[in-house]
Amino acid sequence: MTLRTKLLTALAALTSIAGGAALATEPSPLLEKKPLPEHKLPASKKGNLVVGLCDGETAMEVKGVKEGGKMSRSQALQVTGQLMEEWRRKNPNANWDDVPAPASGQLVAQAPTPPPSPNPQGPRSPPAVSPTPQKPAAGSSVGTAGPTSASGAPQAGAQLKTNIQSGHTYGSFSERDEAIWAESTKAFVEEGNRVFHDADALGGTIAVSCDMCHPDAANTHPETYPKYQVQLGRVAMLRDMINWCIQNPVRGKPLADDDPKMKALEAFIYARRKGVPLEFGKH
Ligand code: HEC
Repeated sequence: MTLRTKLLTALAALTSIAGGAALATEPSPLLEKKPLPEHKLPASKKGNLVVGLCDGETAMEVKGVKEGGKMSRSQALQVTGQLMEEWRRKNPNANWDDVPAPASGQLVAQAPTPPPSPNPQGPRSPPAVSPTPQKPAAGSSVGTAGPTSASGAPQAGAQLKTNIQSGHTYGSFSERDEAIWAESTKAFVEEGNRVFHDADALGGTIAVSCDMCHPDAANTHPETYPKYQVQLGRVAMLRDMINWCIQNPVRGKPLADDDPKMKALEAFIYARRKGVPLEFGKH
């Protein structure tokens, strides 16, 4: 290889690297931010309130309530019931369960907190062998590290403290930690449960809440996301559908993706489907 060829080869290699880098940084159209499309609701000739469904098609005029007005809860129940009736008539073969799946029915009521094990060596007790080398208890003259069968309760306490202090997250949790995590998770899910059932908390303006059509979060199918949603004209995540439904039928403002209410709603909806296999893209 002459010097010239060598130089040319090196130049070609550099160009291809630069080209590759340029390709890699080119913005993908899939990652562009696109606002959600607008629901198109037919206007009422009399200026009455028109409530649209999550399908982006079905809508109903509410007699006696003007656009900008609020229904009573019983009116909202009646209207959502009628909208669902209409939707079922139009979609007789839709994947819509009449009652929440039995697996989901117990989730919120049943705290994920395990009862404390009566047997300290039971499966829920903290790991018997710490994955991190044990330090000798304070005041101990034992120079070598390692679990010994002689380690008593006070020593175990010292061990736990040592691990927490040295930041070994996975090596130091106790039954109490687990109970706190479970309680915190349960409380967050419960908060989502509350928002899901509360038109005002959802930012709704017409007294409609999610549970009126999705009792116990039924038929929200979180396990099928991401999937293409025709009404959104895109591949949607669960939160996109939550926001779409907040706009209509609930008539609230879409929540930011990092809004704690959005997170709580997601938490509740996912929690209700515990045990259902993930099946993204399923219709
Ligand atoms: C008036 C009845 C009604 C109300 C109220 C309602 N929805 Fe829906 N929702 C529907 C219907 C009907 C569909 C199915 C639409 C379709 O498949 O085109 C649906 C679809 C969904 C889906 C997608 C389900 C799937 O199979 O992928 C989610 C998620 C959802 N709704 C969440 C919510 C949330 C969250 C709220 C409250 C903010 C809400 N819905 C309020 C009727 C309702």
